[in-house]
Amino acid sequence: MRTHEQTVQRQFDPRAEAYLASAVHASGPDLAYATELVQQTAAGTGQALDIGCGAGHLAFALAPHLDRIVALDPSPGMLSTVARSAAERGLSRIEVRQGSAESLPFAAASFTLVCTRYSTHHWRRLEAAVRDMCRVLAPGGHALLIDTLGAEDALTDTYLQATELLRDVSHVRNRSVREWRSLLHSAGLAELEHHEWPTRLEFSSWVARMGTPADRVTAIRGLQDAAPREVKEALAIEADGSFTLRTGLFWLRKEA
Ligand SMILES: C[S@@+](CC[C@H](N)C(=O)[O-])C[C@H]1O[C@@H](n2cnc3c(N)ncnc32)[C@H](O)[C@@H]1O
Repeated sequence: MRTHEQTVQRQFDPRAEAYLASAVHASGPDLAYATELVQQTAAGTGQALDIGCGAGHLAFALAPHLDRIVALDPSPGMLSTVARSAAERGLSRIEVRQGSAESLPFAAASFTLVCTRYSTHHWRRLEAAVRDMCRVLAPGGHALLIDTLGAEDALTDTYLQATELLRDVSHVRNRSVREWRSLLHSAGLAELEHHEWPTRLEFSSWVARMGTPADRVTAIRGLQDAAPREVKEALAIEADGSFTLRTGLFWLRKEA
């Protein structure tokens, strides 16, 4: 019987190259915007941390504007891909480290910037992880949080979370903006900016990237067929199973 942590490693370890090549992860309006935010503030001075770095796309985008960035992930496969790809790109300011969001292996106030992209929906103890994110952030430091969002409408959200879980058993939950705001506020992170945009997930590459077994792909397609019109419209479900959800970015500051 596997723990959630073991499930995460089993899902991601063999898929580092697929995530490095993934267009959804290698592009997106957020990478340029994140770079702009970091350049506009003093966040770039000192040390930064990228939690759940995956194949490293956020760390690659930010590294040229930072003194140093630690790319952290529980998956050794992801970390060796990040180290190799950073060297190929001539990004010497990236250091990789194994660990998980719920117990960050760093002293309090170690970083001036803590960021995370497309990872929080896998974190089993999100509240504890956000508190730990805040602990390792220096007072006055910035946090950048980017992830796919849950739907505010309960019915749409149920279909969305079920689809995500069938595709990837390491999925925990996409949080809604309302849930995020309450969590971030309680952790002592003040919201400076929030942006949202639609993210279209092309079905065949989405399930191939995660190696979803054929029976679960069939189950997702069945669920999409059975979805009521409101859900089909809200998720813009297409004939081939492709659909669109929303991604959110929060730019935050730890109270000094
Ligand atoms: C989709 S990938 C991240 C993509 C990457 N940040 C980017 O910008 O392209 C999700 C990553 O979250 C990691 N992850 C899952 N659970 C985690 C946890 N509890 N703490 C830290 N990372 C975790 C996975 O190992 C995986 O590498």
